[in-house]
Amino acid sequence: MRQAGRYMAEYREVRARMSFLELCHDSQTAAEVTVTAARKLGVDAAIIFADILLVLEPLEVGVEFTKGDGPRIREPLRSAERIATLPDYDTADRLAFVYEAIRITRRELPEIPLIGFAGAPFTLASYLIEGGGSRNYVETKRFMYEHEEAWHQLLGLLARLVNSYLGHQVAAGAQALQLFDSWVGCLSPRDYRRYVLPHSAAALAGLSQQVPVIHFGTNTNGLFPLIREAGGDVIGVDWRIDLDQAWDIIGEDSAVQGNLDPVTLFAPRDQLADAARQVLRHAAGRPGHVFNLGHGILPHTPVDHVRYLVDLVHEESSRR
Ligand code: CP3
Repeated sequence: MRQAGRYMAEYREVRARMSFLELCHDSQTAAEVTVTAARKLGVDAAIIFADILLVLEPLEVGVEFTKGDGPRIREPLRSAERIATLPDYDTADRLAFVYEAIRITRRELPEIPLIGFAGAPFTLASYLIEGGGSRNYVETKRFMYEHEEAWHQLLGLLARLVNSYLGHQVAAGAQALQLFDSWVGCLSPRDYRRYVLPHSAAALAGLSQQVPVIHFGTNTNGLFPLIREAGGDVIGVDWRIDLDQAWDIIGEDSAVQGNLDPVTLFAPRDQLADAARQVLRHAAGRPGHVFNLGHGILPHTPVDHVRYLVDLVHEESSRR
């Protein structure tokens, strides 16, 4: 959940030399950032340094990362006609810099597994249509309701790109995958089933046979059974529900990941420890719990608290 980021001095140093997109495209430096963050935190797995929006760059919609406001699409998609003009590009070629970063990271960090990732079709489409982050996803949903055929065409294209991108990440050495459907929690179960589920399933097709797959979203308490139906070996849980309750809904025969509120990292250590212990109590030592934050680490998070949390979880869980 964002191991490398602006909260870390080593990362800020690298970013002082190059822009975020330059860093993502520079395989050697992206690998170094991945390795530095994982070693500094002492975590049990690393996640490759990249971004979910990289898959949108070859679509020529003007992907940008602006200081402070996060990602922006210069020419958002607002018409059904434009969908047909999007190029169905070759992910082997256009995203090769990510696979190279994975190969370098595997060589330089052999002691822990490496997680590859991609954005899910819905979350990617929401950036394409809104042009950036959004509060209510009105444009995305309006498009979905008004142009159902074009919507399915768009999500079908994104699912094909993501599926092939993730497959290449595994071929390059990713030992697990995470699909980020960060904003899908804005949908009703009805809309998720009709507009999203088949495309998330297509994005994940064939991958669980190769490596474990984590399927992550936020605000998804009402969507767990459908997200599980779409695919994944591990279901991501945010902090808006107790982990034991979420696991009951998801099913004991699935693994779960979560679910500490990332903002507890700003709390005094004793409170942070209490909150982490509660997550572990809810997991109750059952197999198939991946301890993690419920969402990404925020800027200004105290790094020493992240280290403290990792040590605490190691001490209090089965890996002693
Ligand atoms: O090293 C790692 O841990 C990998 C990190 C990672 C990034 N993006 C790097 C990043 C991961 C896993 C992502 C995925 C991603 N990107 C998601 C899904 C995860 C989630 O949080 O839900 C999403 C929604 C995005 C889109 C995105 N990229 C946003 C919303 C932002 C702005 C975040 C912010 O705090 O401003 C980004 C930029 C981004 N991606 C940064 C990093 C380290 C900060 C960029 C900078 O250096 O200024």
